[in-house]
Order: sequence, then C-alpha cells, then structure tokens
Amino acid sequence: MLAVLGVASLHANGTVNFHEEVFPIFEDKCFRCHSSQKQKGDLRLDSPIWIMQGGENGDVVIPGDPDESPVYYMTTYPEDDPDYMPSKGDGLTEAEQELLRRWIAEGANFGDVMGGSMMDSAVAESVSSKYTDELPLPPASYEYSVSVVGIVHSLEELGLRVDTVNHDAELFELTYTYADEREAYALRKLDPIASSVVKLNYGRSKVRDQDLIGINGFEALSYVDLRRTRITDEALAHFEGLESLEYLNLFETDVSDAGLKSLRSFAGLKQLYVRGTQVTTAGIRSLQKAIPDLKIVH
Ligand code: HEC
Repeated sequence: MLAVLGVASLHANGTVNFHEEVFPIFEDKCFRCHSSQKQKGDLRLDSPIWIMQGGENGDVVIPGDPDESPVYYMTTYPEDDPDYMPSKGDGLTEAEQELLRRWIAEGANFGDVMGGSMMDSAVAESVSSKYTDELPLPPASYEYSVSVVGIVHSLEELGLRVDTVNHDAELFELTYTYADEREAYALRKLDPIASSVVKLNYGRSKVRDQDLIGINGFEALSYVDLRRTRITDEALAHFEGLESLEYLNLFETDVSDAGLKSLRSFAGLKQLYVRGTQVTTAGIRSLQKAIPDLKIVH
C-alpha cells in the first residue's frame, strides 16, 4: 500500500530535475573537493560523465537504488562519521537529502544535460519516453552514458586527457601530449564520440601524418593544435572537407607552402599559426587571398 502511495505521489509531484535541483546542491556543497579544481577520492561531481564514472571505489550512483548509492547515503551518516560527506562545510539539509534520494530512486536521469549531439536519435527517444506508468526503472540512457564513460576511461588509459568543454558533457576536448603508445593515436578509437569532439590538442605529441587519416570525418571539430610535432604537408591533405575548422596551430612543424594549398577552401578558418615552419611569404600571401578574413600568425 505504501509503495502504491509512493508511486502516486511521485507522479503527482513530477520528477526531480537534475539540472535545476540536484546540480546546485553538488555545486554548493561538493564542488570544493569534487570538481575540476580538486578530485578527492578520484571523484568529480561537475558533469554527468564524471558522476557516472564514479570515484576510487567505483560507482557512486546506482540508478533506482539510493541506499546503494554512496553519493546519497554518505550524506546521511551522522556528522561525526569519518565517511560523512561533505567532510567539511555545511551538510545537506533534510530537504536536499530527500531530493537527491528521489532523483536516484527515479532512475538518476540527467535530462537534457545528457541529450543533444552526444546521443543518437534512438537513445534520445528512449530517454524521453523513459517514465512509464510502471515503477520507475533505471533509464535506457544509463547504459548509454556508461558506454560513453567506458570510452572516456579507455582513452584515459591510453594516456589521453579527456575534458568536457563548458561543463556540458556534450563537447569533448582531447589532449594527446602525454600519450606514449602509438595505439593511442588511432582516430577510430574516438568513433563513438566522434560527433562531439570539438578540440584536438596534439601539441608536442608523437602524432604522425598518417594518424590524421579520417580527421575530416569529425564534423564538429573546430580546433586542432599540432605545434611542435613531426607532421608535414601530407597531414594537411587529410583535412580536406573539414569545414568546421576555425583554429589550426602548425608552429614549428615541417609544413610548407604546398601544405597551405590544402587549406584554401577552408572559408571558416579564423586563425592559423605557421611560425617556425617552411612556409614562405608568398605562400602566406596566396592563402590570405583565398581566405581574406583569416588571421595568419607567422
Ligand atoms: C572538504 C572536502 C570535501 C567535500 C566538500 C566533499 N567531499 Fe566527498 N570526499 C572527500 C574526500 C577527502 C574523499 C575521499 C575519502 C577517502 O579517500 O577516504 C571523498 C570521497 C567521497 C566519495 C567516495 C568516492 C569513492 O569512490 O571513494 C563520495 C561518494 C563523496 N565524497 C561524495 C561527496 C558529496 C556528495 C559531497 C557533497 C555533498 C562531498 N563528497 C563533499 C572530501 C570532500
């Protein structure tokens, strides 16, 4: 009977909105130690990806099961318990604890935060039709977010740094500077998140020309930094058709005028850096003619 009442009131009250109700609690009481600045316990709570990635002891949110979700139950311990969270500062009020509990009980849905370009339409549909008249179940999106988390994890294991841009978990920036394994450079490893990659940072990395084959398939990619790498004109040929590109840094590479020719059709390109390359004044002038608004730093 109680359970039935619970479901009825849940529907009457609507569902907890992560972005508006849960996120501000984390922001207020947890970010100090669990965000981009600090990651105590290897845990970040500042975006869905990080939340679902968990901490050093594994998952912190089990959709549908608040009593098994550390992110909730650790806030309900007595304040003098060594595991009580937040470990310093004001604790959660009972109302905040209840919101967090309900959010998890309802399936730990991230709503629109997880939507947009990161999901294909089938997944987006299953998310929007998630709440049926049945008891709330872990949403289909959970599996999807876990698979993205898995990809992020495996990229990090290869030595890549994966950041979200603007905290919105839909846009990724990848940094290869510390990637040692050749394997790390295979672009196909990014396939599952390809449409969400906006920045590729190869500065001072071991990237080679052939690693960039297929880079023109990243349709949201606007920023590529290749400074101080071994890449040559051949690398630039692989960029053909990448119309989203706005920023390209080629400082101290082996690129020459021939490479710049491949860039002539890049009408959206805004900034290009060619200092320390074999590019000549004539090469710069001819590219400038093709893209008048382009700022070329040499
Ligand atoms: C003043 C710093 C601080 C604040 C604020 C804080 N935490 Fe923590 N948190 C820690 C530390 C330190 C650890 C690691 C504890 C350990 O390793 O024994 C931790 C660990 C955790 C873990 C376990 C992660 C794992 O996998 O081991 C969870 C869950 C957690 N915190 C949730 C929260 C929540 C939710 C909030 C906000 C309500 C919060 N914390 C606020 C310092 C903080």
